Amino acid sequence: MDKLTIRDVDVAGRRVFLRVDFNVPLEDGKITDDSRIRAALPTIRHLLSHGAKVILASHLGRPNGKVHDGLRLRPAAERLTQLIGKNVAVTGDALGVGTVDAIKRLRPGELILLENLRFHAEEEKNDPAFAAQLASYADIYVNDAFGTAHRAHASTVGIAKLLPAYAGFLMEQEIAQLSNLLESPARPFAAIVGGAKVSGKLNVLDNLMSKVDVVVLGGGMANTFLLAQGKSIGKSLAEHDMVDEAVRVLESAEAHGVHVILPVDVIVAKEVTRGTEYKTLLADKIPASWHIVDVGAATLELMEDALRDAMTVFWNGPLGVFEIPSFAHGTKAIARFLAQRCDDGATVVVGGGDSVAAIQQQGLASRFTHISTGGGASLEFLEGRELPGVAVLPDRGAA
Ligand code: 3PG
Repeated sequence: MDKLTIRDVDVAGRRVFLRVDFNVPLEDGKITDDSRIRAALPTIRHLLSHGAKVILASHLGRPNGKVHDGLRLRPAAERLTQLIGKNVAVTGDALGVGTVDAIKRLRPGELILLENLRFHAEEEKNDPAFAAQLASYADIYVNDAFGTAHRAHASTVGIAKLLPAYAGFLMEQEIAQLSNLLESPARPFAAIVGGAKVSGKLNVLDNLMSKVDVVVLGGGMANTFLLAQGKSIGKSLAEHDMVDEAVRVLESAEAHGVHVILPVDVIVAKEVTRGTEYKTLLADKIPASWHIVDVGAATLELMEDALRDAMTVFWNGPLGVFEIPSFAHGTKAIARFLAQRCDDGATVVVGGGDSVAAIQQQGLASRFTHISTGGGASLEFLEGRELPGVAVLPDRGAA
């Protein structure tokens, strides 16, 4: 998957439509994690320093085609202004005369951010007229929004068919790192899959089963696997209708000779709340009124033993109820262990939400090989699916 990139085009004096994924978490109008903005900086800096007139565009949240003041892109523009030391104005709307005029006034080395594309329902419908309007702003299209590459929208697919299209540096790096996992991982290769639900991870488990040597299962989804092993899990979160699928995954692992690690001891709590009573129990003896909320010390030891010589690791999803600090221990411990594996030469790629938060909260991010900016996108990539926003970008050979 060797895509044409911004290294392959002269952008001097040209108008570049740069699709980024500034869909960042906000709390009271403040950005709580700016990694996606930081991850787009190399591309933004390259385009500006090479004299492009940059029209940045992103979605934020799911406003469903309506203007939603809490989902305006101003906080992202302010953060970007701080990071690049250049004022980043946001247009009042992605469309309209004012926006067209503001783009006309751009000089080489300047940039502007279009207001949230999803304020227009046409964006998610990949409406051809909307895509054509966006394309009319620019001479060149660049996609650096890997996190949105699994969506076939006007700004990720429609416009890419109307302009000469290139991958940005982040897009290039994400594709390279994730392709490496599927195509040529150094062995042993381990996947750690956690999070609440088996259902969202089933396809990735199926695809990885023929590629990995070890699978470590944790979080709420491991409870469904414990049920599949005939264990009682008390009141723990589980998907009872997925037990047969979990049995099938375990059988598939056996058929492929994949070593599966499931919790052998767990932290159980009276309630899934802060300040509740909790204790450690063996994973097959959970009384009816308790909830599994984290992995126990013996499980962590077992997991670390299984991962000790892994040369490639993919990690997605927490091992416990990460948002409650008392139950974040397992997830944080595995993050520290994996940082050490990276220091010792292993390749560790992390995708998605709370596993990334566990790394960032402990200041470990710079030690990891790659932290994907795509939650859903990285999972779909590792399911072996073609992401529409990637597929539409021209391959180098086809140029
Ligand atoms: C994400 O956060 O996964 C991307 O920005 C895509 O957002 P979406 O799931 O709302 O399409």
